[in-house]
Amino acid sequence: MLLDGWSMGAGEAAPPVDAAAGDPGATICSCQAVTRGEIAHAIEDRGLTTVAQVSEHTRASTGCGGCRPDVAELLAAIRAPVPVA
Ligand code: FES
Repeated sequence: MLLDGWSMGAGEAAPPVDAAAGDPGATICSCQAVTRGEIAHAIEDRGLTTVAQVSEHTRASTGCGGCRPDVAELLAAIRAPVPVA
């Protein structure tokens, strides 16, 4: 697969992405074909608080591990405290 000049094969991490923003259909974990939206829903719906929990429920970051920083970033963004006016 060729995406924006990046050649990805099985086991290769996707190019770095801003995990906390963007298209919910964007692939965060190319090894397991897990999208941002799938990860976000799992975090929100299941109350996940760790990357290990996200991996257990979505399989993201269970291959090469290259997406782990993006999964962690998305987890932190969703779990960040909301400022009170
Ligand atoms: S991109 Fe390889 S484990 Fe997610």
